[in-house]
Amino acid sequence: MKTVIRTSSGEYPVLTGHGVSCRVLELSGILPNVTKAAVVTDDNVAPLHLQKLLDVLPEGTLRYVVPHGEQSKNWKLLGELLEGFAADGLRRDDVLIALGGGVVGDLAGFAASVYMRGIPYVQVPTTLLAAIDSSVGGKTAVDLKAGKNLAGRIYPPRAVVCDIDFLSTLPKAEWKCGLGEAVKYAVLAGGEMFELMKKGLDENSLEHFIDLAVDYKRQVVEADENESGTRRLLNLGHTVGHAVETESALGFPHGVCVAMGIKAVARASLSAGLLPKEDYLAISSLIQKYSFPECPYPMRSVLGHVAHDKKISGGKLNVVVIRGIGRCEILPMTLKEFEEFVS
Ligand code: GLY
Repeated sequence: MKTVIRTSSGEYPVLTGHGVSCRVLELSGILPNVTKAAVVTDDNVAPLHLQKLLDVLPEGTLRYVVPHGEQSKNWKLLGELLEGFAADGLRRDDVLIALGGGVVGDLAGFAASVYMRGIPYVQVPTTLLAAIDSSVGGKTAVDLKAGKNLAGRIYPPRAVVCDIDFLSTLPKAEWKCGLGEAVKYAVLAGGEMFELMKKGLDENSLEHFIDLAVDYKRQVVEADENESGTRRLLNLGHTVGHAVETESALGFPHGVCVAMGIKAVARASLSAGLLPKEDYLAISSLIQKYSFPECPYPMRSVLGHVAHDKKISGGKLNVVVIRGIGRCEILPMTLKEFEEFVS
């Protein structure tokens, strides 16, 4: 399927399907101009999928393999990539391909955005999380000591090419990480996405679910690419989730923390009289169905990290509350109000 994202900074297609990576340049619409390509990937993905991509890219395609994991989203590695591009003669009209999950997408996307003041790049997601969320919308970043994604840009890719076949090799932990973000989309969008998650994602429903998530994200990003309003909805579960992630020193994967965060917000929304019990029960049983762990930390220690959330503006957190399945809303709260809300 092809979904076109149209924003003020340009438009790009998101293509999903089995085997679509074989036609990555053609489908991205940049084939006639490309003489040189470079692939950034990680050491988990490289042995599985890099060669398949190199086979269909121009001869002499450059390759950069970074260590897997969030630790690679750092300033030093970003600098090394940029130095590598320059030393290898990558030029402004060449194309960079980010082959991997959220970490590779964020890092390579950021590198593409600053190298020679911006070169074209294509996202080729290989994880569920990247397919339904991080590869679409143009967010790129590296982490700073003070927190995740604190240095970055919105720099849309030229295309997203999502080969469903790549997801079949996902390790269980990565799959679960993606399911946390999938629960987020199911609660935000409701309807068919929630029903598909309730039935259980399998090989028959996966591609359709990804298409629905991409289309939901398309609507959000087209309305608010720079995250000054509606796009903040995509942070459902992330305020508590990021804090749990920090508390666990990245011991819990991002998507698992998001699921814990959604559970905390659902419980808080129920207690505050915002969320009907029936919807609360449906959300918590969905989270239970996918066996997400309970948050093992007391809320007090988790909340200690919320003060550093980069999304605080004007002294208030933009908290995404749940009024029903498919009915979420942004409610600004002071830190104190948020503490009372989730405690
Ligand atoms: N991952 C949330 C967003 O793209 O805004």
